[in-house]
Amino acid sequence: MDRIRIVGGNSLQGTIPISGAKNAALPLMIASLLTPKTLTLENVPRLADVSLLVRILGNHGVDYSVDGKRVGDTQMAGNTIHLSAADIVDTTAPYDLVSKMRASFWVIAPLLARTGKATVSLPGGCAIGTRPVDLLLMVLKALGAKVEIDSGYVIAEAGRGLRGGEIEFPKVTVGGTHTALMAACLAEGTTLVRGAACEPEVVDLAACLTKMGARIRGAGTPTIEIEGVTSLGPARHAVLPDRIEAGTYACAVAMTGGDVVLEGARPELMQTGLDLLAKAGAQVSSTNSGVRVTRNGAGILPVDVETAPFPGFPTDLQAQFMALMTRAAGRSRITETIFENRFMHVQELARLGAQISLEGDTAIVEGVARLRGAPVMATDLRASVSLVIAALAAEGETIVNRVYHLDRGFERLEQKLADCGATVERLAGS
Ligand code: UD1
Repeated sequence: MDRIRIVGGNSLQGTIPISGAKNAALPLMIASLLTPKTLTLENVPRLADVSLLVRILGNHGVDYSVDGKRVGDTQMAGNTIHLSAADIVDTTAPYDLVSKMRASFWVIAPLLARTGKATVSLPGGCAIGTRPVDLLLMVLKALGAKVEIDSGYVIAEAGRGLRGGEIEFPKVTVGGTHTALMAACLAEGTTLVRGAACEPEVVDLAACLTKMGARIRGAGTPTIEIEGVTSLGPARHAVLPDRIEAGTYACAVAMTGGDVVLEGARPELMQTGLDLLAKAGAQVSSTNSGVRVTRNGAGILPVDVETAPFPGFPTDLQAQFMALMTRAAGRSRITETIFENRFMHVQELARLGAQISLEGDTAIVEGVARLRGAPVMATDLRASVSLVIAALAAEGETIVNRVYHLDRGFERLEQKLADCGATVERLAGS
């Protein structure tokens, strides 16, 4: 297995191109199951999760092709991919694939909407908490599907097609909202969703479905109305920039000091995070090409944060912000309200010299003057990258193991950081 070696201490200077959002690309790709026509997606990040989803969709009968490089494309430009589900050849998503990537469970909605049946493995345990699918199944039932669980599989059927219905989410769920959008757009009649997630990735999926011919109102607000249509057609859609990747590099610059433009980042998608970084002592400004983050001279100030659904501070940036706070001048409290057990990075940050204690859903971080490099590893993607951020400011060498977590969600991470002056390299596994 590959590892990443980082020697800390350099400030970051330069430009980091922000890739298309993983969390938008995945549901957009899954939406290709809704139409026999071709869905073309631009700005698709080159990530292990995207490749895995291509394989999963291929099992269901989706043809996939990717455009070759065009003159003028930079190495960092995202892929343009074409997905065509002319015939759905298999409506079963097996355990060995779904267990590798939780989001692939979402195929249940378009398979059911288009063919009237779907058999999808339960995603199983996950490193950041129990992450049930009860609310996703609630959506399918509300639209008239019969849903059973047998031998670890969810078997959903709607012999005469899905019917519009009313859905009220008791808590905000991104996956549940994606499921509702994809299931309802081919249902007969109108569906009303209350308590919907307002995340930009939901808005992006709704925009793409609308281009395919769906009738959706209110995406980006807690109330969404979907008027079912009988079929969807072809579309071309560019994946929105990754606000989590941008926020991660913004934390890295705040950590190391320096001056970096996050090219293509959209500040309005990450305002809460940017405001917190400004409180922590970074300067943040919008530029024509993206977001500029600098920190020169001034130290890192402690800031309390609590994760919340959009537009609040994202849980997917919690670990990275905690890494930053390990070097703040004082104590900060970081509260995780979305996932229980999303603190696995705490122990590993401690290996680098961080002082963090846990009180229920809150981590109390006592900033330290220095971190020291050490071998570390992490159990999920955002936790892994928090170790990278800490390592960039630690004295000496850090080896980050289990790099496959990073490859799931960060495109060319070591190259983007090295281009800005970090000492970072990938060590190929044996
Ligand atoms: C998505 C993101 C993930 C992000 C999360 C929250 C993708 C691929 N993943 O995950 O990176 O951290 O949103 O912003 O887009 N819940 C239930 N029952 C359900 C579904 C969810 O109780 O049926 C709970 C979860 O356990 C969690 C909360 O709802 O406590 C939010 O989860 P959800 O928004 O659904 O996360 P995902 O869509 O899985």
